[in-house]
Amino acid sequence: MAEQIRHPLPEARWPSAAEAARSRLFSPIALGPIEACSRTWVPAMVPWRATGDGEVTQDVLDWYGRFADGRPGVLVVEATGIRDVPSGPLLRIGHDRFLAGLRELVRVVRDRSHGETRVLLQILDFLTIRRRPEKAKFFARFLQIHERHRAAVRDRFGSAAAADEQSVRAQLASCDDDTLRELLTPREFRDYAFGYREEVNDLHLPHIRDLPQVLPDLFATAAARAREAGFDGVELHYAHAYTMASFLSRTNVRDDGYGGSREGRMRLPLEVYHAVRARVGHDFSVGARYLGDEVIAGGSRIDDAIRYGLAFAAAGFDFLSISKGGKFDDARQPSVGAAAYPYTGPSGHECMPTVKSDARGPFGRNVHLAAAIRKAVRAAGHATPIVTAGGICHFDQAERILANGEADVIAAARQSLADPDWWRKMRLGHGADIRRCIFTNYCEGLDQKHKQVTCQLWDRDFDAPDAATVARSQDGKRRLIAPPWRAIRHGSG
Ligand SMILES: Cc1cc2nc3c(=O)[nH]c(=O)nc-3n(C[C@H](O)[C@H](O)[C@H](O)COP(=O)(O)O)c2cc1C
Ligand code: SF4
Repeated sequence: MAEQIRHPLPEARWPSAAEAARSRLFSPIALGPIEACSRTWVPAMVPWRATGDGEVTQDVLDWYGRFADGRPGVLVVEATGIRDVPSGPLLRIGHDRFLAGLRELVRVVRDRSHGETRVLLQILDFLTIRRRPEKAKFFARFLQIHERHRAAVRDRFGSAAAADEQSVRAQLASCDDDTLRELLTPREFRDYAFGYREEVNDLHLPHIRDLPQVLPDLFATAAARAREAGFDGVELHYAHAYTMASFLSRTNVRDDGYGGSREGRMRLPLEVYHAVRARVGHDFSVGARYLGDEVIAGGSRIDDAIRYGLAFAAAGFDFLSISKGGKFDDARQPSVGAAAYPYTGPSGHECMPTVKSDARGPFGRNVHLAAAIRKAVRAAGHATPIVTAGGICHFDQAERILANGEADVIAAARQSLADPDWWRKMRLGHGADIRRCIFTNYCEGLDQKHKQVTCQLWDRDFDAPDAATVARSQDGKRRLIAPPWRAIRHGSG
């Protein structure tokens, strides 16, 4: 990032209850066959609270119940894996055994929102990513030695160094990174320096080659389960660093009809949608989250995203939620033993912008992408609702975006984490009680370490009325749930 300016939080003016009642923000909107009571939306946020087997826990129920207290129009449940494979404490929906927990989750959201909040499940597929290996191990075991390695080592260090595979490995292990960059392919160097990561371009791997054959059914089966569990719809996760976003990416150069041209890159996302729709029918909302801009070298930009939006709208998607960045391609190098995290590089910053930003600042930073997509979709005659997110944190800002026709729905992740009641406080004319997110990404830092996500503004609040009973983090130091709504003594947070 070129400039680094620390931006103050924008002034917030909060509406009276009467103003909120006649606002655009608190007016209903159809998301295909369902209606949300307002244009307020809590987008997916992984809280790291599932069991190691991907099951719903009491902590998961409490987390979503707490968001439901604020009665957003829509609550999107975190990225949930569609396969029945171990994936750590992330929710999964790859088998019927997950149904009971997910049903309970839906029930809790309905109860705590008094039936007002529509609940969607974000469903995703992701490819294998491994931790950054120890150097010695990588060269002793992981790197596949080819003739070109032998030749390169022989040319540079003499034939003794290339005598046999063991000596080639030993020689490579003793090289510094600059030399290794010359001796290895870019991909091998990346596997060594960042950890192995599969790509949709890896057609030599049968399970990657076959993704177009297996994913439509996996997504459709997951969506059918979500429907059975009582969700109002699914959000197909076509964004950030995951499989479907990689198909949409300009970096997808597959030559099997599922890459290369825009049509090729869109083909699987459209086939997945049609398979899902065929399975769940037309009375269940099916939309997608995808990127308005990948913000990586050689990646898709807004012109691609507009074309995707037009194709998705024409296909019948019930909503399009526009995000930005969040890619592995430019992620910071992880330490040895850790895996790359897609929100650490420049594209990650664009996904969850902080107050330390360039001159444009983090507030509503990505709205222009949603606006461009919406304009094109409307010009083509489609009414598909467009959701925008990224640094949205006060009433006038949200209302202006809607009034300008830049988006149809306002999503706020971190502001809702800082204060899950903020929508309700706004609607009831109690804006002065809102605990405002300060956009410094303490929560994202926890996510990065796969720790239970909390907010720095409330996780040490042990004066709250529920302090004695509230669940705490494993180390006992942090409360896991935002405190109940109390009038804020200004200055005390
Ligand atoms: C802790 C955390 C977890 C997130 N997990 C997801 C996720 O599972 N799926 C997703 O699409 N976005 C995820 N996001 C991104 C948010 O949905 C949102 O797009 C981003 O934070 C920008 O919006 P904001 O400025 O309102 O926070 C996550 C964000 C945070 C802070
Ligand atoms: S931890 Fe920081 S960035 Fe995250 S929700 Fe709380 S105040 Fe906002």
